[in-house]
Amino acid sequence: MKILVTGGLGYIGSHTCVELLENGNDVVVLDNLSNSKIEVKDNIYAITGKMIQFYQGDMLDKDVIEDIFKQHKIDAVIHFAGLKAVGESVKEPLLYYRNNLDSTLNLLEVMRKYDCKNLVFSSSATVYGNQESPRYVETMERKTPSSPYGKTKAMIEDILEDIYASDPAWKIFILRYFNPIGAHEKGLIGEDPNGIPNNLMPYILKVASNELECLTIFGRDYDTPDGTCIRDYIHVVDLAKAHVKALEKSFAVSPNVYTYNLGSGKGVSVSEIVTTFERVNGVKLNYQYGPRRSGDLPKMFADATKAFAELNWKAEKTIEDMCRDAWNFKLGQK
Ligand code: NAD
Ligand code: UFG
Repeated sequence: MKILVTGGLGYIGSHTCVELLENGNDVVVLDNLSNSKIEVKDNIYAITGKMIQFYQGDMLDKDVIEDIFKQHKIDAVIHFAGLKAVGESVKEPLLYYRNNLDSTLNLLEVMRKYDCKNLVFSSSATVYGNQESPRYVETMERKTPSSPYGKTKAMIEDILEDIYASDPAWKIFILRYFNPIGAHEKGLIGEDPNGIPNNLMPYILKVASNELECLTIFGRDYDTPDGTCIRDYIHVVDLAKAHVKALEKSFAVSPNVYTYNLGSGKGVSVSEIVTTFERVNGVKLNYQYGPRRSGDLPKMFADATKAFAELNWKAEKTIEDMCRDAWNFKLGQK
């Protein structure tokens, strides 16, 4: 199959390209490199021995997308491209609405024109908003996400539902990621944000490599066993494999909108991540406890039973694997 991967040089996209290539697919990537580097293309080749076909371009320009569909018979699209920093989206909401919504609308219009109606979309656990129970299941009614970033994901989910309702030829897979961390075990691709990271693992990596002085653990007074927040961390390679499963299923099932949580189903605290990182990597992390971060939920994790039942997918890798592989990637960057 020939798959268009938007945002395919980014963190999750690059790992998914590896899995797609290793499963015999042809991969075409469109990315504007706003949050990724061109070297990733060669690193995907170094891992797989196979080339992606890369187009540098912005999805806000519909012609860029259409040119790809003119040149290639695309069988399905995995749509990763988007801006994803929660805090930045609060400061720059228009940037987030413009980029995430318009890129998706342009893509959907071109897909419809070229009769390509198999789509896998990167959504987020953030679309659930603040629920009473910490175990998030697909049947829960969504609550309003707290950030403009999260709202773009919820809006796109709604757009996809409407498109299917108007034209029931579409096969749409909405994948709601929990907390992806880790890196490919060969250490050649991983998460490498510019500047000061917002997310836990990239911050830990910069403290461990002495680029930043000290990790602040946001809050130790939550109603959790050690007082720190609980999340569902998932290895990015497990996440990438789920995309291949969703894609394969899209060629086998009847048209519909299918929504899946992608998480391990287990909650892990911030303190547990820190101590596991130190233990498996033999590195001492300089950390302190600080006040709670505004907007953080105390505890959330996935009910991942639907993905197992219907995609035959479950997270295989451990927190130890995630911490080891993330550090291995970071060491290769230095
Ligand atoms: P990333 O920033 O590493 O990758 C996104 C890629 O999209 C980047 O390479 C960027 O250059 C590209 N891009 C952005 N806007 C573009 C545009 N207009 N045209 C072309 N390319 C564009 O992010 P990621 O962590 O790999 O996330 C991938 C997707 O998964 C995103 O949609 C994100 O919102 C979603 N997601 C990520 C997480 C997470 O924690 N990483 C959690 C839930 C959902
Ligand atoms: N944390 C710290 N110190 C830091 C960074 C994070 O203690 O320097 C804590 C946070 O308070 C939180 C946990 O580590 O308890 C995880 O925080 P992240 O920022 O890594 O991840 P979030 O759970 O806040 O957000 C992630 C994705 C979002 C997505 C959201 C969905 O990054 O894209 O999950 O729930 F919207």
